[in-house]
Amino acid sequence: MSRTSFSIASSSSDTAEPTAGVSAEQTRRDLLLGALATTACLGCCAPARADDDQPGADERPQKGDLLVLSEGDNEGQLVKPDDLKLGGPPVRAWPKDPKTSVVRSGSRLNEILVVKLDPNELDETTRTRAADGIVAYSAVCAHAACPVSEWVKADQGGDMTVFKCPCHNSEYDPRQGAQVVFGPAPRRLAALPLSLSEGSLTVAGPFVGKVGGSQPG
Ligand code: FES
Repeated sequence: MSRTSFSIASSSSDTAEPTAGVSAEQTRRDLLLGALATTACLGCCAPARADDDQPGADERPQKGDLLVLSEGDNEGQLVKPDDLKLGGPPVRAWPKDPKTSVVRSGSRLNEILVVKLDPNELDETTRTRAADGIVAYSAVCAHAACPVSEWVKADQGGDMTVFKCPCHNSEYDPRQGAQVVFGPAPRRLAALPLSLSEGSLTVAGPFVGKVGGSQPG
Protein backbone atom coordinates (compact mmCIF):
# COMPACT_ATOMS: atom_id res chain seq x y z
CA MET A 1 0.00 0.00 0.00
CA SER A 2 1.41 3.34 -0.97
CA ARG A 3 1.42 5.89 1.81
CA THR A 4 3.07 9.15 2.65
CA SER A 5 6.11 8.53 4.83
CA PHE A 6 6.34 10.37 8.09
CA SER A 7 8.50 13.42 7.69
CA ILE A 8 10.04 15.93 10.02
CA ALA A 9 9.81 19.45 8.73
CA SER A 10 9.72 23.08 9.76
CA SER A 11 6.32 24.70 9.93
CA SER A 12 5.79 28.03 8.23
CA SER A 13 2.88 30.42 8.40
CA ASP A 14 3.67 31.41 4.81
CA THR A 15 1.96 28.31 3.56
CA ALA A 16 -0.79 28.09 6.17
CA GLU A 17 -4.45 28.62 5.48
CA PRO A 18 -6.04 31.37 7.62
CA THR A 19 -8.13 30.13 10.53
CA ALA A 20 -10.47 33.05 11.10
CA GLY A 21 -12.47 35.45 8.96
CA VAL A 22 -12.71 32.97 6.15
CA SER A 23 -14.29 34.55 3.09
CA ALA A 24 -16.69 32.84 0.75
CA GLU A 25 -13.92 32.68 -1.85
CA GLN A 26 -11.55 31.09 0.67
CA THR A 27 -14.22 28.62 1.71
CA ARG A 28 -14.77 27.61 -1.92
CA ARG A 29 -11.03 27.25 -2.36
CA ASP A 30 -10.73 25.12 0.78
CA LEU A 31 -13.58 22.89 -0.34
CA LEU A 32 -11.93 22.44 -3.74
CA LEU A 33 -8.56 21.68 -2.16
CA GLY A 34 -10.23 19.29 0.24
CA ALA A 35 -11.96 17.48 -2.59
CA LEU A 36 -8.75 17.23 -4.57
CA ALA A 37 -6.81 16.10 -1.51
CA THR A 38 -9.38 13.48 -0.62
CA THR A 39 -9.45 12.22 -4.18
CA ALA A 40 -5.67 11.99 -4.10
CA CYS A 41 -5.78 10.15 -0.77
CA LEU A 42 -8.29 7.65 -2.02
CA GLY A 43 -6.19 7.13 -5.11
CA CYS A 44 -3.10 6.31 -3.07
CA CYS A 45 -4.79 3.88 -0.73
CA ALA A 46 -5.95 1.02 -2.92
CA PRO A 47 -5.58 -2.21 -0.96
CA ALA A 48 -2.35 -3.99 -1.79
CA ARG A 49 -1.54 -6.17 1.21
CA ALA A 50 -2.37 -9.84 1.38
CA ASP A 51 -4.07 -9.23 4.73
CA ASP A 52 -6.43 -6.60 3.39
CA ASP A 53 -9.14 -9.03 2.27
CA GLN A 54 -9.00 -11.32 5.28
CA PRO A 55 -11.87 -11.39 7.77
CA GLY A 56 -11.35 -8.71 10.38
CA ALA A 57 -8.85 -6.73 8.30
CA ASP A 58 -11.22 -3.81 7.92
CA GLU A 59 -12.63 -3.92 11.45
CA ARG A 60 -11.66 -1.03 13.70
CA PRO A 61 -8.96 -1.64 16.34
CA GLN A 62 -10.15 -3.78 19.21
CA LYS A 63 -9.10 -4.22 22.81
CA GLY A 64 -6.13 -6.59 22.99
CA ASP A 65 -4.88 -5.88 19.47
CA LEU A 66 -1.13 -5.57 19.05
CA LEU A 67 0.50 -2.82 16.97
CA VAL A 68 2.74 -3.46 13.95
CA LEU A 69 4.69 -0.99 11.84
CA SER A 70 2.86 -0.04 8.65
CA GLU A 71 5.86 1.17 6.65
CA GLY A 72 9.61 1.06 6.40
CA ASP A 73 12.16 -1.74 6.49
CA ASN A 74 10.50 -3.31 9.53
CA GLU A 75 6.95 -3.14 8.17
CA GLY A 76 4.79 -5.80 9.82
CA GLN A 77 6.96 -6.10 12.92
CA LEU A 78 5.71 -5.25 16.39
CA VAL A 79 6.04 -1.68 17.59
CA LYS A 80 8.41 -2.00 20.54
CA PRO A 81 8.24 0.64 23.28
CA ASP A 82 12.03 0.70 23.60
CA ASP A 83 12.43 1.43 19.89
CA LEU A 84 10.37 4.62 20.12
CA LYS A 85 12.36 7.78 20.63
CA LEU A 86 11.21 9.98 23.51
CA GLY A 87 9.76 13.17 22.07
CA GLY A 88 9.19 11.66 18.62
CA PRO A 89 9.12 11.38 15.74
CA PRO A 90 6.07 9.11 15.64
CA VAL A 91 5.78 5.83 13.79
CA ARG A 92 2.83 4.67 11.69
CA ALA A 93 1.17 1.42 12.64
CA TRP A 94 -1.69 -0.98 12.07
CA PRO A 95 -3.57 -2.90 14.75
CA LYS A 96 -3.12 -6.66 14.55
CA ASP A 97 -5.46 -9.29 15.91
CA PRO A 98 -3.26 -11.47 18.16
CA LYS A 99 -5.57 -14.48 17.80
CA THR A 100 -5.77 -14.63 14.00
CA SER A 101 -2.60 -12.61 13.22
CA VAL A 102 -4.65 -10.58 10.77
CA VAL A 103 -3.29 -7.07 10.34
CA ARG A 104 -6.21 -4.64 10.18
CA SER A 105 -4.91 -2.90 7.08
CA GLY A 106 -8.09 -3.37 5.07
CA SER A 107 -9.20 0.18 5.87
CA ARG A 108 -6.98 3.23 5.87
CA LEU A 109 -9.11 4.50 8.76
CA ASN A 110 -7.30 1.92 10.91
CA GLU A 111 -3.83 3.39 10.49
CA ILE A 112 -2.51 5.12 13.58
CA LEU A 113 0.33 7.34 14.71
CA VAL A 114 2.28 6.21 17.77
CA VAL A 115 4.58 8.57 19.62
CA LYS A 116 6.44 8.40 22.93
CA LEU A 117 6.22 11.54 25.06
CA ASP A 118 7.17 12.65 28.54
CA PRO A 119 4.19 11.58 30.70
CA ASN A 120 4.51 14.85 32.62
CA GLU A 121 3.67 16.75 29.43
CA LEU A 122 0.36 14.96 28.93
CA ASP A 123 -2.92 16.38 30.11
CA GLU A 124 -4.93 14.26 32.49
CA THR A 125 -7.22 12.67 29.91
CA THR A 126 -4.36 11.89 27.56
CA ARG A 127 -2.37 10.32 30.39
CA THR A 128 -5.18 7.88 31.12
CA ARG A 129 -4.99 6.66 27.50
CA ALA A 130 -1.19 6.46 27.41
CA ALA A 131 1.17 3.57 28.17
CA ASP A 132 4.31 4.97 29.80
CA GLY A 133 3.88 8.19 27.84
CA ILE A 134 3.19 6.40 24.54
CA VAL A 135 0.07 7.70 22.84
CA ALA A 136 -1.75 6.71 19.65
CA TYR A 137 -4.08 8.59 17.33
CA SER A 138 -5.78 8.10 14.00
CA ALA A 139 -3.43 8.96 11.11
CA VAL A 140 -6.34 10.32 9.07
CA CYS A 141 -6.84 14.08 9.14
CA ALA A 142 -10.14 15.28 10.58
CA HIS A 143 -10.43 17.93 7.87
CA ALA A 144 -10.53 16.16 4.49
CA ALA A 145 -9.00 12.80 5.37
CA CYS A 146 -5.46 13.27 4.09
CA PRO A 147 -2.71 11.32 5.86
CA VAL A 148 -1.28 13.20 8.83
CA SER A 149 2.30 12.78 7.77
CA GLU A 150 4.54 15.38 9.40
CA TRP A 151 6.04 16.03 12.83
CA VAL A 152 6.97 19.70 13.07
CA LYS A 153 7.50 22.65 15.36
CA ALA A 154 4.06 24.11 15.95
CA ASP A 155 3.27 27.12 13.82
CA GLN A 156 2.21 29.05 16.91
CA GLY A 157 3.59 27.04 19.82
CA GLY A 158 7.22 27.93 20.39
CA ASP A 159 9.32 24.78 20.51
CA MET A 160 6.40 22.38 20.82
CA THR A 161 6.34 19.62 18.21
CA VAL A 162 3.01 18.56 16.78
CA PHE A 163 1.41 16.36 14.15
CA LYS A 164 0.77 18.17 10.89
CA CYS A 165 -1.35 17.39 7.85
CA PRO A 166 0.32 19.02 4.82
CA CYS A 167 -2.86 19.19 2.74
CA HIS A 168 -4.12 22.38 4.45
CA ASN A 169 -1.65 22.66 7.34
CA SER A 170 -3.80 21.49 10.22
CA GLU A 171 -1.78 20.79 13.35
CA TYR A 172 -2.67 18.59 16.32
CA ASP A 173 -1.08 18.45 19.78
CA PRO A 174 -0.69 14.83 20.93
CA ARG A 175 -0.14 15.96 24.54
CA GLN A 176 -3.67 17.37 24.67
CA GLY A 177 -5.69 14.61 23.10
CA ALA A 178 -4.60 15.72 19.60
CA GLN A 179 -6.65 18.86 19.82
CA VAL A 180 -6.36 21.19 16.84
CA VAL A 181 -3.79 23.92 17.46
CA PHE A 182 -3.65 25.34 13.93
CA GLY A 183 -5.43 25.11 10.60
CA PRO A 184 -8.92 24.30 9.35
CA ALA A 185 -9.52 20.87 10.94
CA PRO A 186 -12.86 21.07 12.78
CA ARG A 187 -12.03 18.55 15.48
CA ARG A 188 -9.24 16.57 17.10
CA LEU A 189 -7.85 13.27 15.83
CA ALA A 190 -9.50 10.18 17.25
CA ALA A 191 -7.46 8.74 20.12
CA LEU A 192 -6.65 5.06 20.54
CA PRO A 193 -6.12 4.08 24.21
CA LEU A 194 -3.02 1.94 24.82
CA SER A 195 -1.69 -0.31 27.54
CA LEU A 196 1.40 -2.44 28.07
CA SER A 197 1.03 -6.19 28.33
CA GLU A 198 4.14 -8.27 28.99
CA GLY A 199 6.21 -5.51 27.43
CA SER A 200 4.08 -5.25 24.28
CA LEU A 201 1.95 -2.30 23.30
CA THR A 202 -1.68 -3.31 23.10
CA VAL A 203 -4.90 -1.53 22.30
CA ALA A 204 -6.82 -0.83 25.53
CA GLY A 205 -10.12 0.14 23.92
CA PRO A 206 -11.77 1.39 20.74
CA PHE A 207 -11.12 4.76 19.13
CA VAL A 208 -12.31 7.70 21.18
CA GLY A 209 -13.83 10.22 18.80
CA LYS A 210 -14.74 10.15 15.13
CA VAL A 211 -12.24 8.74 12.64
CA GLY A 212 -11.91 10.28 9.19
CA GLY A 213 -12.48 13.63 7.54
CA SER A 214 -15.42 15.95 7.83
CA GLN A 215 -15.49 17.26 4.27
CA PRO A 216 -16.96 15.32 1.37
CA GLY A 217 -14.51 14.21 -1.25
S1 FES B 1 -7.03 17.33 4.89
FE1 FES B 1 -7.12 19.48 5.15
S2 FES B 1 -5.73 19.89 6.75
FE2 FES B 1 -5.68 17.74 6.54
